[in-house]
Amino acid sequence: MDWKVFLAPYAQAVEELKVKLKGMRAQFEYESLHSPIEFVTGRVKPITSIIEKAKRKQIHFDHIEREIQDIAGLRVVCQFVDDIYSVVDMLRGRNDFDILEEKDYISQKKDSGYRSYHVIIEYPVETIHGEKKILAEIQIRTLAMNFWATNEHSLNYKYSGRIPGNIKARLKKAAEAAFQLDEEMSKIRNEIQEAQRIFKEKQEKEKHNRE
Ligand code: GTP
Ligand code: MG
Repeated sequence: MDWKVFLAPYAQAVEELKVKLKGMRAQFEYESLHSPIEFVTGRVKPITSIIEKAKRKQIHFDHIEREIQDIAGLRVVCQFVDDIYSVVDMLRGRNDFDILEEKDYISQKKDSGYRSYHVIIEYPVETIHGEKKILAEIQIRTLAMNFWATNEHSLNYKYSGRIPGNIKARLKKAAEAAFQLDEEMSKIRNEIQEAQRIFKEKQEKEKHNRE
């Protein structure tokens, strides 16, 4: 298997989708609106992880394209839980890809404590051989969910997926704390946004006065 050739359209898709999702953020800024998107990241799954996942899930190599949905992965991080649903609505309204599946691990959190909203899309990439449709996973989560998930991911890596019980219990407590943080921030959302608006106006005025 020539991995470079296989992964090329995924790399292309990740780059394009990063530009598109970051573009959404920029548009909100141009229009001086609160952006539901804080930042966007993307990656192509490392070859070793693809092979490991195929083995773990007993996926034949010929079926990788269909059955591993996160070879192309995008992450949209939001300030507030409500922003996640705004982003999902915007994704639903787009015409440049089809949504195949949505997984709401926010209303149904995972046993680990993981929370996020996943959208699996089918994205058409233009290649020199014509159009190729690939699958990509967009994970949408708050800053608090992201903080938790990245730390838990590091621990999973360290312990090869077998995190000791006491640490697992701590992680569950931390997930609960992250949930509470999101709840509290939602309650004072208007206050926070007004403060951010005032700060931005002040910055722009100062910039204007300097010029
Ligand atoms: P894998 O979990 O990757 O085997 O894929 P899946 O087909 O079971 O899909 P699922 O929706 O469970 O997970 C997709 C992705 O979500 C994963 O690759 C992770 O990036 C993320 N994810 C899911 N569960 C967890 C979790 O418990 N902790 C962390 N940190 N990330 C998770
Ligand atoms: Mg899983």
